[in-house]
This record gives sequence, C-alpha cells and structure tokens, in this order.
Amino acid sequence: MNQFAADRAPSTPAVLLDLAVRVAREAAATARRMRAGAIGDVGTKSTATDVVTAADKAVERQVVEALLAARPGDGVLGEEYGTSETAQPGAVRWILDPIDGTVNYLYGLPQYAVSLAAELEGVVVAGVVVNAATGDEWTATRGGGAWRGDRRLRGSAPAGLGQALIGTGFGYDARRRAHQGRVVAELLPQVRDIRRLGAAALDLCAVAEGALDGYYEKGLNPWDWAAGGLVATEAGITVAGLRGAAPGLDMLVAAPPVIFEPLHDALAELDAAGGP
Ligand code: IPD
Repeated sequence: MNQFAADRAPSTPAVLLDLAVRVAREAAATARRMRAGAIGDVGTKSTATDVVTAADKAVERQVVEALLAARPGDGVLGEEYGTSETAQPGAVRWILDPIDGTVNYLYGLPQYAVSLAAELEGVVVAGVVVNAATGDEWTATRGGGAWRGDRRLRGSAPAGLGQALIGTGFGYDARRRAHQGRVVAELLPQVRDIRRLGAAALDLCAVAEGALDGYYEKGLNPWDWAAGGLVATEAGITVAGLRGAAPGLDMLVAAPPVIFEPLHDALAELDAAGGP
C-alpha cells in the first residue's frame, strides 16, 4: 500500500472521470479483442443462464490493476471478484461491470459495455459506460451533466406513458423471470412498446439520450447501474425505487419527470418490486 500516492491522488469528479475513461477504453478494447477466444471459455454463476466468460474475468483484473496502480489507496467493487481490497477511509470506491450484457457478448450482439463509476463517501461522482462493440461512450460527473462526446444529454419528452418506449430487463432466476414476465405483460398495453436490449448500463444511457423514454428493472446490482444511473440522473432523468425507496436491488425506475409518476404508479400497482 503506497500511502504517499493515496494521500496525493486528487479526487475531484473530473480527475476521476478522466482516469475512468482511459481505463474503460482499454478494457473495452480487451473485451473486443478477446471475444473470439473468450466465448469458447464460458462458465456459469447463479443459474445455468447466468454466464461468465474468460473475458469478463480478464477485463476485471485489467481494470483493477490499472486503477490500483494509479490510485493505490482506492477500493474496487467488481462483478466477478467482489471487493478487491479494503479502501482507506475517505478513499474512492470504484464500481465496475467488466462486461455488462455478457449474453449479448456471447452471441455477438453489439450491445455490451464496460461500466465504471467512482463513488466517494457513498455517492457516485463520476461514471463512464463504453459500448465495447461500437466504441460509443457516455460520461457524467455529479453536477457536471451527462455527455455523449461533446453532446450534452437531456433525455426525452414523451407526451405521456401511452406514447413511451420503455426498456426493461430480466434476472437469471427462473422464478424471478416468471414474476417479471407477468409484470411486463400487464405494462405492455399501457405503453408505446417494450424493449429488452440486454445491458442495463446501456439501457440507462439510452434513457439519458432519449433513445428510450424510460427503463425499469428488479434485481440490479450496483455494478449494473452505478455509472449509467449517474449518466441518466445528470441528463435530468429521475432515477428511483418504488414508493420513495432509493434505487437498488428491489427496483430501479428511470424516466423523465413528465412520465416518472405514471410509470412508477403502474409498476407499484403491478407489484413489480415484489416476487422472488
Ligand atoms: C445483466 C444485464 C441485463 C440485465 C441483468 C443484468 P450482466 O448484466 O445488465 O440487461 O437484465 O439484470 O444482470 O450479467 O450481463 O453483467
């Protein structure tokens, strides 16, 4: 542990974002480069459909090494290896999904991403999502707006829930999916249409730039939504749970203020946060 380096490392959102972008771009390049070999080396996690490839693990190791080389006092929470190291008090906790959309990665659908966020004292202050298949990039700093390149993002302004295109996702547990399927079947007649794109981080960035009007999912982990949640929030999107709860494992709803309430109420009515 290099205390000197940790003490000296500045932790402004802009500095953290700069590092995050550099590291995430290199990680995305690794994911893309490794794909042909990695999809032949696939394991499973919570269920037979919850896959992990050699690239998920290699990319996570690469990111952890790069972050801790630059900022030795920080901690990293990653999807594949959990917490890499106990962070110093007041240090940054990085939250990483090395490949969000692993099933898309496996099948070659160009919708998988590196998601990396920096959290200070429990608050995400910087985040980047890089679509590893296309190179598209979304960034945000707390209070500094959400950006795709030099375009500031502001979400969409749908006329109402009935005209809204809503994204969602499903967990890997069959019983949870059965509940999620019932909820989405009841929501479908109330909205313009439903999309299931397969990578939560990219779904949130899509809401930020107005390519979706809203998104909800039960069962997301911090690495799925830490960076994309900041991008959406900074684009003026309301990101919350149901009935005043914070967004998290039970439910995350992201929508422009104009349709947040009707979407929230429809999901609450359907007990979208309930079930297994
Ligand atoms: C998954 C994706 C998917 C969402 C799942 C997540 P992973 O992440 O974000 O869209 O519906 O809930 O677990 O497993 O590909 O990193």
